[in-house]
Amino acid sequence: MSRVLVIESSARQQGSVSRQLTEQFIARWKQAHPSDDVMVRDLAAQPVPHLDADLLGGWMKPADQQSEAEQAALARSNLLTEELLAADVLVLAAPMYNFGIPSTLKSWLDHVLRAGVTFKYTETGPQGLLSGKRAFVLTARGGIYAGGNLDQQEPYLRQALGFVGIHDVTFIHAEGLNMGAEFMEKGLAQAQAQLAQVA
Ligand SMILES: Cc1cc2nc3c(=O)[nH]c(=O)nc-3n(C[C@H](O)[C@H](O)[C@H](O)COP(=O)(O)O)c2cc1C
Repeated sequence: MSRVLVIESSARQQGSVSRQLTEQFIARWKQAHPSDDVMVRDLAAQPVPHLDADLLGGWMKPADQQSEAEQAALARSNLLTEELLAADVLVLAAPMYNFGIPSTLKSWLDHVLRAGVTFKYTETGPQGLLSGKRAFVLTARGGIYAGGNLDQQEPYLRQALGFVGIHDVTFIHAEGLNMGAEFMEKGLAQAQAQLAQVA
């Protein structure tokens, strides 16, 4: 049995294309792997806090020197990291907002890219500590960016995931969603076809 962790980040609960893609991904994945355990964390329904002084205190201070607020921040953050550590497969839903990923997803990454837990610094540079995991990133974009030098989502997410040791990453882009009905249908159909192959 594998564990699948799905991270939703569209601000909208209704009419979201990235949520539609994750729903299809989960349905297909469950069909192919009925005994797998799928967990969904919805960063819009339950946003994770931005990094703040309490969390940095919780990360950096010895337990006996932490304030109650630092302990609470650390416990919340540990939960996110533990969910990722326990997952074999990570599915990130990433709508494009202002050329990048939603700030909610950036916040989640700020929690889980954690020195000493998901990566470590060595004499030869940083080393990812998460091995053997696969990731799928399902993007939804109003325009068309894939393969071009204006795509700031895929390079960033590849770098962030690679940094913690997740190198097996498949991107599925639903693009052209705000460019009229024809582009939207084509963009969605292409993403769904790719999704049907990989999930
Ligand atoms: C605040 C905001 C910013 C957006 N910025 C971009 C953008 O920079 N480039 C783009 O192609 N589409 C942009 N879009 C369009 C979304 O990427 C598109 O509507 C996508 O379907 C959103 O994902 P969702 O359907 O899962 O909510 C933006 C949408 C919103 C609401």
